[in-house]
Amino acid sequence: MKVLVLGGDGFCGWPTSLHLSDIGHDVIVVDNLSRRAIDLELEVESLTPIRPMGERVAVWKELTGKEIGFVNLDLAKEYDRFEQLLRTERPDAIVHFGEQRAAPYSMRSSAAKRYTVDNNVSGTHNVLAAVVATGLDIALVHLGTMGVYGYGWSGSAPIPEGYLTVKVPTPDGDLEREILHPANPGSVYHMTKTLDQLLFAFYAKNDKLRITDLHQGIVWGTQTPQTALDERLINRFDYDGDYGTVLNRFLMQAAIGHPLTVHGTGGQTRAFIHIRDTVRCIQIALENPPVAGEQVKVFNQVTETYRVRNLANLISSLTGVEVANLPNPRQEAAENDLNVEREQFVKLGLNPTLLSDGLLEESRDVAQKYRDRADTSKIIARSTWRQGMETSPDLVTK
Ligand SMILES: NC(=O)c1ccc[n+]([C@@H]2O[C@H](COP(=O)([O-])OP(=O)(O)OC[C@H]3O[C@@H](n4cnc5c(N)ncnc54)[C@H](O)[C@@H]3O)[C@@H](O)[C@H]2O)c1
Repeated sequence: MKVLVLGGDGFCGWPTSLHLSDIGHDVIVVDNLSRRAIDLELEVESLTPIRPMGERVAVWKELTGKEIGFVNLDLAKEYDRFEQLLRTERPDAIVHFGEQRAAPYSMRSSAAKRYTVDNNVSGTHNVLAAVVATGLDIALVHLGTMGVYGYGWSGSAPIPEGYLTVKVPTPDGDLEREILHPANPGSVYHMTKTLDQLLFAFYAKNDKLRITDLHQGIVWGTQTPQTALDERLINRFDYDGDYGTVLNRFLMQAAIGHPLTVHGTGGQTRAFIHIRDTVRCIQIALENPPVAGEQVKVFNQVTETYRVRNLANLISSLTGVEVANLPNPRQEAAENDLNVEREQFVKLGLNPTLLSDGLLEESRDVAQKYRDRADTSKIIARSTWRQGMETSPDLVTK
């Protein structure tokens, strides 16, 4: 099938584009390279030496003979070009990764908050409006986040896949209804994903668009079989305080002998998925779209949950690097449990990659190989959820 991968230059989008191309799909990446521009703004770079998009697709063609198209386009600002692209290319499906995705970045200033809302909500709405305007039957797969549910709201009850059955009391007795799980975002970034959910619900109902929303956990790992084929195809590895995500940050910190940066008590429990499973999940979602008129299909794209301090202790015991408990820059419960329903992908054939499968070492090796590219002054998280919150000074790398 022909697939547009929006945000296909990013950490999840690039390996997904390669995977979909590898299994025979016709892939076109649409990306405005804003993530690379934010690296310049933050004066930080991917730990791995990612190549320019033109080189990436040229190398893929050189190695495999397969072509991946690339269109540099801003989804939030260039609506007409995007609609025209759909009319010209007539894709069967769109995978939408093209949003500002860092919670800390979304909280760092009023400019970053406004950018995140404008970029994510307008971009997603433009995609939906363009699909309707063209009248094409295009299945949309969107990357949402586990963070739309919030943490700890329902105690130890498992978080369902998107929908919750509730009882509505009426004078004639209780009515049973299925509703979208209440949104409980923990940052401006997460809030944009909850707004996306409403846009999807409306367009699925009103225009019978076929939409799948994937509530993904924190992605860890770097390489997939395709990105590992050649160093010029290498995937992004973020380690800085804004874009680095917890497990990859610990692996990188261990590789350079920097204390493992645990925020607060480390009692936060989070959901995780390896990048290899992300790309498989996208494939599965593309192969199992909803039918027109069906409600938005929601999958929890998660394979394991871990408490942050347990992850830190695990990596510390493997590497001998100490754990540092730092002030938590976020507004969140110090401790939470997390129990997530995740049966749908497994039923559809996902064979989860677990932390115990040996890939921790692979990621650690990547971090070790590129350790000289690290700027240790960028490791500590500096964006805080409210003005005046305490942050930590730089820590010494041993
Ligand atoms: N990385 C994770 O751990 C994680 C976890 C849960 C959900 N997700 C979701 O998956 C998606 C991809 O995440 P990622 O880690 O690959 O992020 P990323 O920042 O590496 O990639 C996003 C890509 O989208 C592009 N983009 C952003 N705004 C755009 C616009 N207006 N027009 C065109 N392109 C635009 C960026 O340039 C970038 O290449 C995001 O929507 C994110 O919310 C990621």
